[in-house]
This record gives sequence, structure tokens and C-alpha cells, in this order.
Amino acid sequence: MPNPALDTPDSASRETAGMTSIPWWQQAVIYQVYPRSFMDSDGDGIGDLPGVIERLPHLVDVGVDAVWLSPFFASPQRDIGYDVADYRSVAPEYGTVDDAQALIDRCHDLGLKVVFDLVLNHTSDEHPWFTESRSSRDNPKADWYVWADGGTNRLGRPTPPNNWRSELVLPRAWQWGEERQQWYLATFLHFQPDLNWHNPEVEAEMTDMIRMWLERGVDGFRLDIFHTIMHDANLRPNRFRPRFRSGLPRLDDPVHTLNTDENFALGQRLRAVCDEFDGDRALLGEVFGAPEELQRYVEDEGRPGLNLVFLFDFLVAPYEAGRLRSLIARFEREYPAPHVPTYVLENHDRERSLTRLGGDERKARVMAALLCTLRGTSVLYQGQEIGMTNHPIPLREANDPIPHVVARWMPEWVHDCLPERLNRDEVRVPMQWSGEAGAGFTDPGVTPWLPFHDDHGTVNVEAQTSDADSLLNWYRELLALRHASPALRYGALELFDTDPDIIAYERRHDDERFVVVANLGERTVRHPVNDAQAAALSGPRIELRSSSVSLPPHSATVLRLG
Ligand code: NOJ
Ligand code: MG
Repeated sequence: MPNPALDTPDSASRETAGMTSIPWWQQAVIYQVYPRSFMDSDGDGIGDLPGVIERLPHLVDVGVDAVWLSPFFASPQRDIGYDVADYRSVAPEYGTVDDAQALIDRCHDLGLKVVFDLVLNHTSDEHPWFTESRSSRDNPKADWYVWADGGTNRLGRPTPPNNWRSELVLPRAWQWGEERQQWYLATFLHFQPDLNWHNPEVEAEMTDMIRMWLERGVDGFRLDIFHTIMHDANLRPNRFRPRFRSGLPRLDDPVHTLNTDENFALGQRLRAVCDEFDGDRALLGEVFGAPEELQRYVEDEGRPGLNLVFLFDFLVAPYEAGRLRSLIARFEREYPAPHVPTYVLENHDRERSLTRLGGDERKARVMAALLCTLRGTSVLYQGQEIGMTNHPIPLREANDPIPHVVARWMPEWVHDCLPERLNRDEVRVPMQWSGEAGAGFTDPGVTPWLPFHDDHGTVNVEAQTSDADSLLNWYRELLALRHASPALRYGALELFDTDPDIIAYERRHDDERFVVVANLGERTVRHPVNDAQAAALSGPRIELRSSSVSLPPHSATVLRLG
């Protein structure tokens, strides 16, 4: 039966479909591009901005609404751009500011919104600000970073100012600055010194830079580790309190370093900067903390802050209907309209979801169906749509600095016992466009900056485009359906409590109603539905009867009610 909802809308109707009072960022599916690994246009083995522009039609074809680009600013690339050396210029291997402008304009021509990635907590230690700041105690940038005196131990060696720990868990957050004979704060990696946002000059410079990109047309920013920016200005120590958090050990209660009151206030000020423009620019926070803390970023005592915060729980939650259902219920409570939850299954820091699902593509389809039909904003990571998996790379060979830092305090066999290996290279290998030499990412014969995944001959965009049953086509169908349906884009959500293996919910807007049913279990389940008109989206062996639908193990369907 032909299904009008599945006709891929062209860019004009995408625009019309988006013309509602609901802001774009509350109904968007955002596609994360990791520029170094997306598309290499000049054959140097490194992805670049002209390459991204070349491949934008793929994003339109998949049916996403916006693109978020991981940082492409000038950088020594020790943390692949999350160590910025100039926020106003583009790293030469990626292109120029003109290329960035062309990218913004091209996205807009195609009806896509553009989100840049801002690393506000720290710069590279090679940023000229830091070079100056570290040179003496009284230069003009002396107070742009967080410098402090420590003490000395019995052997006469300097000891840090307080007990703050880096976000890499065990190493301390303080690094020694020889020239100044002082310590500087580095909350993440040692070469990423924290900016001192207590200094009004820093905030003025950064907000100015944000305005520059907003003037160029950027629709929003993803804010890198935003919860860490406003540490306690008096450097009060954190209380020692060892425990596990998200599967990793944590030694303290980070009340003076993370999610401070001042940090929430900063979010509100940055929101005000965005709102100086046309009221349609958005901030998406990468923030970690307790649920109440995350909520405070979007609204605190009635004051609006970040538009969205990532809810990372789906990145780590087991594939289990009960667990996922209770997360959905919680997010619905915590982010009631006009707020929306932000769902994510993968990014450049965490394991590929298909790898986590044991390579079972049926499960990946179930998760894709949830991601694309739950209420809120969803974020996909490049390659997720074709089921890219982790490409194993030995820890010692990692380009990623984290395994090398971790190796100082954790033997490799302990590392291997962690729920997740901390070698982010494995999820950053080049995008797989085709099965040819170069994977359609770079010219044949060119060595890419990270190796190609072994499976690129079979797992690639070209092969999946021509296979009607591919994961890519499942994503395309889901997103085409979402696009054509206000109920799925921004309708209310009602979650049903049913069979333990089932996640089922209704999405409704005006007269339009859909029911999404997913079976995450090992047995076929019959789920009662009243009023089902037709399956808007279905899979093999899913049977719709007059008052029920029967789903085989690990399958999902979207039914139109009428
Ligand atoms: C989070 C980013 O996603 C990650 O890739 C980066 O290493 C850290 N923040 C530090 O900027
Ligand atoms: Mg290149």
C-alpha cells in the first residue's frame, strides 16, 4: 500500500513542514559530524569543511534537520579540536573561515540548521592567551586562566592548592607552571588549561566570539563540558567521597567544581546572548550531573538557560524494556512541554551503539525507532545510520590522548575490564561512503588519519542505499514519517505500561495519533491496540489484526490511529 508519509520531502516542503510555533530545536533530529573523519576533499587523509559541504546531500537524504559539527577551529589537535588555539579561525587542514561560511550558507539552502561546537571550559595550552598567561604573574593575560599557589611537602616539592580531581577521575586537576612557579587548573586533560570565567575580560571576549559566529548565521552551539566552567572562586576543597558514577570510580563530591550556582547563571547569560539575535538560536549543553542539576540548566527559578541538555542515559542503559521505559517516564516528568528531552545513542566519545548491542541489527532498529519517535530532540552520530561498529585499535597505538593518560594509573588488564574501553579512536574512524578503496572518504591509496574499519567493503552508504531493507533505509523511513507528522515531531507523549518486554507510547497532536510499539524481548508478543488504521512503518513478521499487533522478538512498528 503506498504510504504518502514516506515520500521524502524536498527542501521546500521541509521548510513548510517546519513552519510552526514550535522552535526548530524542539523538534529536530541533529546529525553529528566529526569533521576529521567525515569527508576528505583534498586527498590528505583528513576530513575537511569542503568535504562536509560535498556530503550535505546525504544528511538531507537521511532526513535530519540539523548538523552539529565537532570543533574545526585552529588547534594543535591533541584532542582533535577540543583543544582550541583560536576560536575565530579554522584549522588549515579543515579549510578557512570562508569555507565555514560557505558551509553555513549551504546548510541553510538545503533547509538544515547548523550547530557549532564551543569549548568554553578550556583552551589548548598552545593558545596564545595561555602562552602569555603562563609567562609571568603580571602579564595582561595573567588572570585569564586559573592560577594558584600551592604548598610544599616534606621533601620541599610543590603540592597543589587543593584536592580537586580532573574529570579523568584519578589525576589531580592541577598542573605545575614552571615560569610562574604556580599551579594552573586543568579539569580535563593536562594540555587543556581551564579559562578563568571569574575574570570579566574572559567572558567579554568569549561572548564577543559567540556573537561573531551568530552573525555569520550559526543556529546554535553544542557546549562542551559546560558543567565544569564555574568552579568555586575561593578554591574550597571537595569532600572526599569515593563511589562509582556511570560505571567509573569517582573520588569526591564535586560540589565546588561542577554544576555550581554560578554555572547555571552563566548558562542564562549565554542564552541571553543568543536571544539578542532572532530568538531561534539554541544552546545544547554537554552537562553531567544529578537529574535535578541537569534540569536547572534549562530553567532555574523561572529563568531560562540552555535550550537543551543531552540526556546521556541511553548511551549506557542496558537494552531492556523496563529500564528504558522508566527512563522515558522520568524524562517526560523532568522535561514537560514546553521543554523537551534530548536523546542520544552514540557520539565521538562513547562506544558505537551497535557494538554495545552485541552487533544485533534488529536491536539497532528498535533503538532507532525509539530515537526517531520519542518526544523531543534526537542526536545521531555519523555512521550510526549505517550501523558502523567500533573498530578495535590497540590502546598503545591510540591517537586519542586518554588511553595514554589512563595508562599512567591503570594497567592495561584493568582497563580491559572496564565496561567500556577508553580508546575513542575506535569510534572515530572514517565514515564509510562506499566499498571502494578510500571508502569514498578519501582518494584511493591515501592513508587516512585513522585506519578504515575492516567492514567498510560491506557496511557503507552506497551499498545500503540500494538495499531496501538496510538500516539506512529504516532511518530514512523513520525520519520521513517524523517529518510528515506533527504528532511525531512535537505531539504529546503518553507512555503505556504493558508487557515487561514492550515499550509502547502514543504520540498525539490535534487529530493525528500514532502508536509506537517496540518489542525488546526474545518472544513474540501480542500488544493490544484500539483504533489502529494501518502500520505507518512496519517490519518482517509484524502482524496488525483488528485489535492487536503481534511483534516478533526485537522489532518495532509505528501505527497510525484513526
Ligand atoms: C567532551 C568532548 O566530547 C570530548 O571529546 C573532549 O575530549 C572533552 N569534552 C574535552 O573537551
Ligand atoms: Mg582533507
